Amino acid sequence: MSPSSTAILSPPLPTPWPRFASPLKLGVMASGKGSNLEAIATAIQQGHLQAQIQVVIYNNPGAGVRTRAAQLGFPTVLLNHRHYPSREALDRAIVDTLQAHRVDWVIMAGWMRRVTPVLIDAFPRQVLNIHPSLLPSFPGVRAVEQALAAGVKVSGCTVHQVELVVDSGPVVMQAAVPVWPDDTPEILQARIQVQEHRIYPAAIALAAEAASQPSTRPSNGGQLTVDG
Ligand code: GRF
Repeated sequence: MSPSSTAILSPPLPTPWPRFASPLKLGVMASGKGSNLEAIATAIQQGHLQAQIQVVIYNNPGAGVRTRAAQLGFPTVLLNHRHYPSREALDRAIVDTLQAHRVDWVIMAGWMRRVTPVLIDAFPRQVLNIHPSLLPSFPGVRAVEQALAAGVKVSGCTVHQVELVVDSGPVVMQAAVPVWPDDTPEILQARIQVQEHRIYPAAIALAAEAASQPSTRPSNGGQLTVDG
């Protein structure tokens, strides 16, 4: 396998995609470029993910996600953490915004702030996050750099339910990518993001399907298959 190979271990996407009584109402929280927001929007437009994006909350005035969300026609709300006296006060404003937009599922897509029980308790088991490592390895910031520094040969991304401990919580879906000797953080991040965009929409659908069947835990989408 050559170093340029994009060979991966990635779960199959749902076939067919789950259907719900009504579209899932998503609230997206993001601080970055918004590429995951766009991937979720694309999956919705394609008729795969039965959902609608009610609002996009961002916390950095210059975040690229704001432009992307506006281009896609989604309402955007800036909640700048610098203007709140505590994490709880910020989360109260987030919850108020999500509820005002009638959100059911909270989708953290590059939200780089720790959250509190104020948010988690308002949406029990319905807050999801995506993280650029195979959790429980490399939680926290600079996960891609952490993976490279550790010298791992495989990394990837994880969609999980959000709990109080950062980057913990039940795993919904993971995908793995190779780490090659000459990878830079940017190259590995880009390889991981291809998988993020593939699995996040599917993970939302699978988490919602699992939630509608209370006795089951979120599935990882099935057995890993070699692709690529
Ligand atoms: C993703 O890599 C995600 O794993 C991390 O933040 C990044 C957000 O990227 N939590 P984007 O803004 O969706 O492009």
